Amino acid sequence: MNFPMISFQWLPFVLLIFLSSVSATLKNIPRLSPIGGKFLHDLETVSASISDDLKTFYYDQTLDHFNYRPESYTTFQQRYVINSKYWGGATRNAPILAYFGAEAPLDGDLSVVGFLADNAQQFQALILYIEHRYYGNSIPFGSREEALRNASTLGYFNSAQAIADYAEIITHVKETLHANDSPVIVIGGSYGGMLASWFRLKYPHVALGALASSAPILYFDDITPQNGYFSVVSKDFKEASETCYQTIQKSWSEIDKATSQPSGLSNLSKEFKTCRPLSESSELKNYLESVYSSAAQYNHPPDYPVTIVCGGIDGAPSDASILEKIFAGLVAYRGIRSCYVNEPRNISETTVGWRWQTCSEMVIPIGHGNDTMFEPDPFILSSYIEQCKSIYGVPPRPHWVTSYYGGHDIKLILHRFGSNIIFSNGLRDPYSTGGVLDNISDTIVAVSTVNGSHCLDILFAKESDPEWLVMQRKVELRIIEQWISEYYADLLAYKK
Ligand SMILES: *[C@@H]1O[C@H](CO)[C@@H](O)[C@H](O)[C@H]1NC(C)=O
Ligand SMILES: *[C@@H]1O[C@H](CO)[C@@H](O)[C@H](O)[C@H]1NC(C)=O
Ligand SMILES: *[C@@H]1O[C@H](CO)[C@@H](O)[C@H](O)[C@H]1NC(C)=O
Ligand SMILES: *[C@@H]1O[C@H](CO)[C@@H](O)[C@H](O)[C@H]1NC(C)=O
Ligand SMILES: *[C@@H]1O[C@H](CO)[C@@H](O)[C@H](O)[C@H]1NC(C)=O
Ligand SMILES: *[C@@H]1O[C@H](CO)[C@@H](O)[C@H](O)[C@H]1NC(C)=O
Repeated sequence: MNFPMISFQWLPFVLLIFLSSVSATLKNIPRLSPIGGKFLHDLETVSASISDDLKTFYYDQTLDHFNYRPESYTTFQQRYVINSKYWGGATRNAPILAYFGAEAPLDGDLSVVGFLADNAQQFQALILYIEHRYYGNSIPFGSREEALRNASTLGYFNSAQAIADYAEIITHVKETLHANDSPVIVIGGSYGGMLASWFRLKYPHVALGALASSAPILYFDDITPQNGYFSVVSKDFKEASETCYQTIQKSWSEIDKATSQPSGLSNLSKEFKTCRPLSESSELKNYLESVYSSAAQYNHPPDYPVTIVCGGIDGAPSDASILEKIFAGLVAYRGIRSCYVNEPRNISETTVGWRWQTCSEMVIPIGHGNDTMFEPDPFILSSYIEQCKSIYGVPPRPHWVTSYYGGHDIKLILHRFGSNIIFSNGLRDPYSTGGVLDNISDTIVAVSTVNGSHCLDILFAKESDPEWLVMQRKVELRIIEQWISEYYADLLAYKK
């Protein structure tokens, strides 16, 4: 099964092919990223206004932090970006807000993840953005082609290496600025949010606290029910419109019915104006599933893509067939185009990199049960493992994340261990089902919004933001302020 990445045509280093022709059999794990869906339209305008304050640097990063074999000492250039406009300086131990890049080049984050720039002034903070290894300009082995060649070079592409990179760069920046006692708050969204929360637990001497936005750290093993993701997608649609939900629910068997007719696929291709003829009905089904998932995950105000899709479906003429309604929903979401489905697109770095990550350690078991608007389609670990093996030659390690970072019985384990982590979520985000939604202790807290979607809180504040989003950010800032003021008191008391 495949999951078209509708929104990432803008990423650099891409290759023009039809996405659905690659690894068509691998069950897709929806990407985790602060940015996606319709939000990308805002990119260009924001980047122009902030770029002046940003300075780019490269750090000579160690390829392998956990091994002393000679090849481990190989280095690569890792990109980080600093904005010192608001910084109060080392002599005042002014804070550092550090953003952890995730499964994409850093460039996109710089222009949409606004939480740091929006709030640095209040903290007189230095802002540091760090790119994740194997993405963007932070590529080991000299080129992407080499780095992604096979499991021998991809083997260094994992979360433990990534957070060790982050520890080294933060430490390096503090040393360079003589800011040894400046408190560091790490911030990430989605997969980057998982990294931020794990970093606080593994590197408490480097980070004072973490803001982990929409981080599904519990979507591993069997901690979260498999159908959590798609049950929230379904709930979002049902809440937007019951008739829309029912139309989608009925559409899958309508697609089967149409396919079984003579010249059914070519008829369907015409009806959906596909960019090239459908060769199986699953191409259409997977595409529609990805549209609904993306609309739900990035169901951002003020336009709320789920409402847009349902507006199209419900707004079709009353004598329209179910599939005509579905097509009207697609047009409402994608806009008027020359063709739909099978759209030619450039394969993004995220598509390629995230496939390796989900086929090695980020095995997030997402399937559909019977209680969604989708056809039942369980996640079967054994076949997933076989598919990954056939692509990379090595099997995934589906239990490594919980062995290394934990996750089972999280309340029991963390309520007397660890501190200073905010898990923020929007409950309309399908990934929130794997998030931490209850307060674990006084300082490991969950800040959720009922109507929020994926990573909303860490995006740039906008005039049109609803009150609940403004409040969510305020609560987070108040908590971070508290951590920092306690730290300054501790600094006086303990550091002579
Ligand atoms: C990866 O490619 C290199 C160069 O072609 C080769 O030497 C190495 O054995 C390959 N590794 C695997 C796991 O296939
Ligand atoms: C194509 O589908 C329409 C309904 O969507 C149906 O009326 C028509 O008979 C189909 N044509 C063929 C050739 O199957
Ligand atoms: C793919 O990337 C190339 C080079 O950046 C660009 O010219 C082309 O328009 C892109 N194609 C699509 C379908 O986005
Ligand atoms: C879905 O329902 C069918 C038939 O009612 C049943 O056989 C199947 O086990 C159910 N699957 C799940 C995942 O609940
Ligand atoms: C957790 O604690 C924070 C901070 O005190 C509070 O804002 C939030 O509402 C609490 N969350 C839950 C789920 O009770
Ligand atoms: C969430 O949105 C629904 C309408 O979509 C509204 O009725 C409800 O009051 C909102 N809840 C909150 C907490 O804002």
